[in-house]
Amino acid sequence: MLKLLFVGVLFQVIRCQTLYESVFINDSFLYDGKEKELNDLLDGCENKLREESIKTKEGIRREKELKSKLEASDIAVMVFQGNYFQELEVVKICKMYPSLILYHPIYCQLYYNCSIPADSGLKDDDCKPRLYLEECPYPKLFSKETLKCENYTNVICGHRIEIKWLCKYEKVRVFCDYQLGYHRGLYCYGYFPNCDGYPDGLYLNEHRGDDRYYKKCLDGRTIEYGTCPNSHTWNTITFLHKGKCLSPYELPVNEHKYGQLPSCKGTHDGSYQYPQEEHRCDAYFTCQNGNAKGNKCPGTQLFDVNTGSCQEGKNIDCYI
Ligand SMILES: *[C@@H]1O[C@H](CO)[C@@H](O)[C@H](O)[C@H]1NC(C)=O
Ligand SMILES: *[C@@H]1O[C@H](CO)[C@@H](O)[C@H](O)[C@H]1NC(C)=O
Ligand SMILES: *[C@@H]1O[C@H](CO)[C@@H](O)[C@H](O)[C@H]1NC(C)=O
Repeated sequence: MLKLLFVGVLFQVIRCQTLYESVFINDSFLYDGKEKELNDLLDGCENKLREESIKTKEGIRREKELKSKLEASDIAVMVFQGNYFQELEVVKICKMYPSLILYHPIYCQLYYNCSIPADSGLKDDDCKPRLYLEECPYPKLFSKETLKCENYTNVICGHRIEIKWLCKYEKVRVFCDYQLGYHRGLYCYGYFPNCDGYPDGLYLNEHRGDDRYYKKCLDGRTIEYGTCPNSHTWNTITFLHKGKCLSPYELPVNEHKYGQLPSCKGTHDGSYQYPQEEHRCDAYFTCQNGNAKGNKCPGTQLFDVNTGSCQEGKNIDCYI
């Protein structure tokens, strides 16, 4: 009798687990309005399990295991998989499991936190609260493994959409100002540079008129933007050119309107003085295979045309 019971429980456990797992594995399971069916199925499964399991220790252990599995993870999320606008489902789930954290089925930076006050989540386009919905701070993403916001490099989004531009994060996209009553989110689009689709590196900030303004792209994210810093070496402002902030003395004269670096075309390899009108006695440029490179002499040294090198001393006449 006991053995039979045990087998019965085990059967239920296996059946329920299989159900959970197949639901979990197959993302498309719940399209076509199958949510209710699944809910009933799950409820039935849990109830049966409970009835049966009361009778054996093993059953109780198994039930606990299943329950914690349920709470820890993905089952509930699957109930509204493919059902993005019915966030009411989340309310039901959160009432049942008030400590649950759920990943968002569509967006990788979103998640549900059942323990926040119901109306303190993100807002929808009409500035109504989207219950329990939270968003990781840019550029973090929500990890299904740790159920926390993590460095995007450590998150596997799978089928979830990975947003790379801050302006498409919900918190920024929909910004509700209750006094003014308008969306400030739109501001972001004309302001925060976009790196989605760019290889790593420095690029022009598309929102600023000139090439002193850069954005820094890493993995398609805008990880920094700002003004090219002044060059301490050259004691000049710098301009963005081919992915670098360069002083005019490093910018080829024929490639940039403020460029001061002479062309080396047809010039023998060697070190040369900047043209006299530049008054840069403390620097020189080198030519190698027709390529020019600007160099600043160290410290207070000046470029000596006789030796072709930087020298200490005030008697060096660097002019030709
Ligand atoms: C997943 O869904 C697809 C299409 O709806 C179906 O063909 C497939 O058999 C399902 N797989 C599982 C494991 O349920
Ligand atoms: C969920 O909300 C609670 C209460 O506000 C908070 O303590 C907890 O850190 C939140 N968890 C996550 C993953 O955001
Ligand atoms: C995220 O990960 C990348 C690569 O592992 C690392 O370079 C970066 O510093 C990390 N960022 C943070 C905020 O931890």
